[in-house]
Amino acid sequence: MQVRCPAKINLLLRVLGRRPDEFHALETLMCPVSVHDELTFEPAADGELSLRIEGADLPAGEDNLVMRAARLVRQLSGTRRGVKIFLRKHIPVGGGLAGGSSDAAHTLTALNEFWQCALTVPQLDAAAATLGSDVNFFLHRQPALCTGRGELVQPVALQAADGRPLRLGALLVHPGFGVPTPWAFQTYAANPAVGEAGRLTLRQVAADGAVTEFKPRNDLEPAVFGKYLWLAEAKAWLAAQDGVLDSLMSGSGATVFALTAHREDAEKLAQSAQKYFGPETWLHPIDLLTAPQ
Ligand code: C5P
Repeated sequence: MQVRCPAKINLLLRVLGRRPDEFHALETLMCPVSVHDELTFEPAADGELSLRIEGADLPAGEDNLVMRAARLVRQLSGTRRGVKIFLRKHIPVGGGLAGGSSDAAHTLTALNEFWQCALTVPQLDAAAATLGSDVNFFLHRQPALCTGRGELVQPVALQAADGRPLRLGALLVHPGFGVPTPWAFQTYAANPAVGEAGRLTLRQVAADGAVTEFKPRNDLEPAVFGKYLWLAEAKAWLAAQDGVLDSLMSGSGATVFALTAHREDAEKLAQSAQKYFGPETWLHPIDLLTAPQ
């Protein structure tokens, strides 16, 4: 069994305040994008769980989110069956693209099917929340407004300012270093400053039909850009290029992205960006997966 695990970008990330636990209250609009990791599940005769990873230097031990998700499905369902899991990484690690969370969410749903466990949606949702704040989003496979610490997911439809369904391309730019998420939130908490609103106007439509306009914005940018000057420069450079509608940091970084009308514009931009940022920089033109997958 093979599963694609898409990355996400945040089109909006507002920090609403600190919570009594170690987390921050968020309002974040996340959208799946067309770069993905791949998970393969094969039966294991010995009832063991094993994980092999290619494409990233990541520990594949018991603490890996995929292994933790697999153990959760076993615990919740009581199955004793084993599985050999192969993970091929394409999404950069520590990139604010939630690759690890997507891998974990897809492990939950895939093993539920693979082992025929019949775990319910609320059971999977509760399990996802214990693995990380971004994991629940990936159980839905469509744009969503996420609140709480990020785990409360309300799917939305995304529209352009004129009310047409949103179709956008983007160029993802990752510098090759990661930004630790706890550090980003701590730095924000020490000096809370809201992110600058972008120039694009977008609309989110909730399930009850309520329409809210918003501009791309990420409240973690001032904290992260204060230390990682490269990212501030990358965002500004992208914003100034022809055909770029807006640019923003994803999550707590280190990926910044440029939004374009079409993926082809992002592909063209990738050529000049590679020259500007140098060969070490990871550049990936993508589509925003705005329709339910
Ligand atoms: O939930 P996740 O494992 O992604 O969170 C990583 C860290 O990011 C948390 O331990 C916390 O320090 C910070 N965080 C936060 N508020 C959130 C989400 C994450 O402070 N809503």
